[in-house]
Amino acid sequence: VTLIISAIGRKGGITKTSTATNLAAACARAGLFTVFIETDGQGNASEIMGVEKSDAFYKLILKDAKWEEMLVPVPDKFMGMRDMRFVMLPASNLTSEVESHADTAQNMIRRIRQLRGVADVVILDTSPGLTNVHVGCYLVSDYVYLPTTTEQFSVSSLDSAFELLEQAKRIGGTAYPAAQVFGILPNRYNWKENDAREKLGEIKGGYKRKCRIFDPIENSVAWHDSCTRQLSIYALSEAPRNLPGLSFSRPAARKAMQQFDVFAQSVIELAKPVAEAVGT
Ligand SMILES: Nc1ncnc2c1ncn2[C@@H]1O[C@H](COP(=O)(O)OP(=O)(O)OP(=O)(O)O)[C@@H](O)[C@H]1O
Ligand SMILES: [Mg+2]
Repeated sequence: VTLIISAIGRKGGITKTSTATNLAAACARAGLFTVFIETDGQGNASEIMGVEKSDAFYKLILKDAKWEEMLVPVPDKFMGMRDMRFVMLPASNLTSEVESHADTAQNMIRRIRQLRGVADVVILDTSPGLTNVHVGCYLVSDYVYLPTTTEQFSVSSLDSAFELLEQAKRIGGTAYPAAQVFGILPNRYNWKENDAREKLGEIKGGYKRKCRIFDPIENSVAWHDSCTRQLSIYALSEAPRNLPGLSFSRPAARKAMQQFDVFAQSVIELAKPVAEAVGT
């Protein structure tokens, strides 16, 4: 009775982390008890949220650490609101040991399932590779979503993400049914570029029978500001006009937030009935 959703993709830089962290902010702002799990040892999500990197993910999965000792609160600054129920599990260098450990997928399923009935929504951010951690993500999640840019290699990597999901389904069998694809989220879109429009057409033509395809989020400098300033796109769009050193304009930040929020709200819709059913 908890929605578990992962950002996945085979390629680097397709906006997994920026969308996953902001999705978590949106869920927390909607009043959902939100747990964000960083499974990428680069620790980009910790950086974006303004949390100190640590090997909490490693300790939880391979050292049987307690959840309550590993989770850290996400700063109000990132959320742009106070007193939300929003915690995260940071990752760092020792993630490489988790990635190669034979027990990882089993342990991830066991540990992350402990959040069912406790959290309203659990969001996992993955690294671009394919490791035991990824198998764990596919098997423990109810849904995965696929962010993609509208470039050649990003679009062509969608196929391999679908293939991996099929592979995970075979590994998990009936005991561990793998995640369903929630949708494809095209990002960093520039409608003025012919090539980008063409690639968006390819995504719609190629995958619309397989899953939902969200309207593209435009490429915007507001996203850069959001990630480097440790402000979610929501917090940025409400930030004071005179915040020093920002390249964004308020309307640009609002537009970026509104485009992203269509995706975020559809995830919240999915999580809410679940949260209400358990009376949290
Ligand atoms: N709509 C957008 N417009 C402009 N820049 C964006 C947009 N969305 C994300 N970005 C930027 O794109 C870059 C890559 O995003 P991100 O780090 O989320 O990708 P990733 O898939 O997690 O990468 P990795 O594979 O390294 O984990 C970041 O610098 C981020 O700020
Ligand atoms: Mg990332």
